[in-house]
Amino acid sequence: AQANIGVVGLAVMGSNLARNLASRDGNTVAIFNRSYEKTRGVLDAHPEAGFLPAETYREFADTLAKPRTAIIMVKAGAGTDAVIDELVKVFEPGDIIVDGGNALFTDTIRREKAVRETGINFVGAGISGGEEGALNGPSIMPGGSDESWVTLGPILKSIAAVAEGEPCVTHVGHDGAGHFVKMIHNGIEYADMQLIAEAYDLIRRGTGKSPAEIADIFAEWNRGELESYLIEITAEVLRQVDAATGEPLVDVILDQAGAKGTGAWTVQTALDLGIPVSGIAEAVFARSLSSKPAQRAAAATLPGPSAAWTVDDPDAFVEDVRRALYASKIVAYSQGFDEIVAGAAEYGWSIQKGEIAKIWRGGCIIRAQFLNRITEAYADDPSLVALLTAPYFRDALAASQESWRRVVVAAAQAGIPSPAFSSSLAYYDGLRADRLPAALVQGQRDFFGAHTYKRVDRDGTFHTQWSGDRTEIEAQDTH
Ligand code: 6PG
Repeated sequence: AQANIGVVGLAVMGSNLARNLASRDGNTVAIFNRSYEKTRGVLDAHPEAGFLPAETYREFADTLAKPRTAIIMVKAGAGTDAVIDELVKVFEPGDIIVDGGNALFTDTIRREKAVRETGINFVGAGISGGEEGALNGPSIMPGGSDESWVTLGPILKSIAAVAEGEPCVTHVGHDGAGHFVKMIHNGIEYADMQLIAEAYDLIRRGTGKSPAEIADIFAEWNRGELESYLIEITAEVLRQVDAATGEPLVDVILDQAGAKGTGAWTVQTALDLGIPVSGIAEAVFARSLSSKPAQRAAAATLPGPSAAWTVDDPDAFVEDVRRALYASKIVAYSQGFDEIVAGAAEYGWSIQKGEIAKIWRGGCIIRAQFLNRITEAYADDPSLVALLTAPYFRDALAASQESWRRVVVAAAQAGIPSPAFSSSLAYYDGLRADRLPAALVQGQRDFFGAHTYKRVDRDGTFHTQWSGDRTEIEAQDTH
C-alpha cells in the first residue's frame, strides 16, 4: 500500500482531480475506473503523475495506505451508490469514502448514515470550478465527520484553489453540510448568470450596442466592484465570433438554457425551509421559460408595448444597469446565505458563514472580489440576520437603488423581461417595508377558513366571526 489517496471514476472531472492530486507534494494517487481501458488511457496519457492503477476494487483497496481515502468522481445518482457499495466491501472501519459529485444533500445524509454503520467515514464534498478547477485548484466544500477531516483536510488543502494565501476549502459541517452549501453555491451561480444575462439584454436592446461593444463594458465592469469570474467569461463569450457565419456567437446559439437540476434543488429546498430565495427562483424559472419553444411560439403574437423604447443617455443607462446588477447580486447572495442559515438550523450543522464566503473567493464559478465583503460583514457581526443590512451592503444598496428602479421601470415599459432584476427589487422593497399587505392576506384567511390572526396592539390569537355578527373573539392559534 503506497497511495495516500485514490480516485474512482476517471471521466474528465475525475482524471483532472487525480492529476491535480498527483502534482502536489506528498500525494501518491491510486486510480480506478469501472472499465480498465479508461484507467489505462489516463495512465498512458499522464506518465508524469505516477498513478498507481487498480483493476479491481480489491486491488484498489490494497494499493491505499490506511486510513484508506478515496474520492468518488462519478455522475451523481445511482452510480454513486453502486461505487459506495463496492468500496464498503473492501474498506475497513476508519477508512474514508468521499463523494466529490454534485449529490443532493439529502442523499448524502442518507449515505453517510448507512456507511457510518460499517465504521467507515463517508464525506460528501461539493467541488466547484469545472474541469479547469479540478485540474488547477477547485473550491471544495466537504461535510462528514471530524475524524475524516483530520486525514482529508491536508489532502484537500493541497489541491484547492488559493485565494489571498488561503486554500479554498473548509470543513463545512457534518454529513450533508458540504453538499448543501455546494447546492447553494449553484443557486447563487444561477442568479448571477441570469442577472448578467438580463444586463446584457437591456444594454443591447436599449442602446443598440453590439455584443463586442458590450464585451468591452463587461471587461470594464470587471475592474470594479463587480469583479468576478462570471463577468470575466461573459466578456469572452460576447466577443466570440462564429467561424461558420461570421456572426457574434451569442447570436447563433439557440436561446434555450439547459439545467442539470442543482438550481432547482436550491429552490425546492428553500420552499421546504420557507426561505424566500426569489432571485434564485426567477433564474431557475427563466431557464425553464426559455426552454418551452411551443409556448414561446404560441405567445409570440401577444402584443408588447406600443411606444418604441429609446434610451436618451446610453452611458448613464449602462451605469444604471451596472448598479442594478450589483444591487440584485447582493440580494441573491443575501438570499443564499439565509438558506444556509435555515438549512444549518434544520439539519443541526454548525456552519461558519464567513468561512463559506472565504472558500468561494477562489476556484469556484461564483468567485468574486465581493466575497471578501461578505466575510467581513459576518466577522463584524456574527449574528447578522440579513446580509443586505450589513453596513457595507446597506451603503451599496443605498447608492444603487434609484438606478435599480429606473432599470426595472425601463424594462417593464420596453417589454423586456427582467425577472431577476425586478424580483430582487421587489424583495428589497418587501423586506424594508414598514407594513406589508400580508395583514390583508391574514384577514382573507380568517374570513374563509377561520385561520385566525394576531393583532398589532395586543397579545393573543383572534378570529372575527365573519358569518355571524362579525364581532371578534379570542381563538386558538391555528396559523
Ligand atoms: C461548478 C458548477 C458545476 C456545473 C453545474 C452546472 O460549481 O463547478 O456549478 O457544478 O457547471 O452543474 O449546472 P447546470 O448544468 O444546471 O447549469
